Amino acid sequence: ASPKYKFLRDENLQASRHLPDALIIGVKKSGTRALLEFIKLHPNVQAPSSEMHFFDKNYVRGLSWYRNQMPLTLEGQMTMKKTPSYFVTKRVPSRVKKMNPYVKLIVVVRDPVTRAISDYTQSSSKKPEYLRKSFADLFYINGTNVVNTRWGIVRIGLYARYLDTWLKYFPLSQFIFISGETLIVDPAAEMKRLQDFLGLKVIITEKHFYFNTTKGFPCLMKSETLASPHCLGKNKGRIHPKIDESILDRLTQFYRPFNLKFYQMTGIDFGW
Ligand code: A3P
Repeated sequence: ASPKYKFLRDENLQASRHLPDALIIGVKKSGTRALLEFIKLHPNVQAPSSEMHFFDKNYVRGLSWYRNQMPLTLEGQMTMKKTPSYFVTKRVPSRVKKMNPYVKLIVVVRDPVTRAISDYTQSSSKKPEYLRKSFADLFYINGTNVVNTRWGIVRIGLYARYLDTWLKYFPLSQFIFISGETLIVDPAAEMKRLQDFLGLKVIITEKHFYFNTTKGFPCLMKSETLASPHCLGKNKGRIHPKIDESILDRLTQFYRPFNLKFYQMTGIDFGW
């Protein structure tokens, strides 16, 4: 090729870093990692796995620092990041809006009751003090039967409340709500919705998934880095402890009005 031709080709293929076009903002323990790993398969998406907590913990470093942390992207590729704590962190929406008022916001949600147990299971595996206290001990305010809404694990499931805050900054049309339950039983369906929402050609389909009966979850035929079939790590899809039926009923009742409000706000009945 002539030098000029080469120059033009390099220009066209020049990679650069840019601020995220889309953020997976939550909700913790709803399937956010699975969604990120799945969307990474798309050739027009660059989505690093690391969570850098820019908008909640590293904001003082500034947007140019944040941009420098982004992966290199080619023309036509979008940048995506995931930080599940953003959904429930009050100071985040206004900061995100300052970065880009048109950013696309992805929220994975799951039955808040199962989400709470998943969160508790994760916390017990990380923090030894949890092992001394049962779910019931933490769930009720000392010796009463009043639900302890100050316990983060309960509070995070109040989706309507957090969405309300986000909607003060972004219109509903900028959000997509992914069902954590559907993501398990029919990942291709949720991935189609996501690709449509992001304006991407639908490339991730049934062909990318198989159901691994040992894991009990859908796994990938291949990914960005691995050409062979594989599942998410063992910290995704943990075995949950058995929680007393009466607590589960109480938790279900407790979330009911908040769930209904959330269905109303999003226009989606998630069936919890
Ligand atoms: P459990 O480990 O409690 O089963 P997050 O990535 O947001 O922390 O969510 C973790 C949850 O993702 C897991 O919770 C699991 O139920 C769910 N999940 C959804 N799809 C999955 C998949 N393909 N493989 C493993 N876990 C998946």
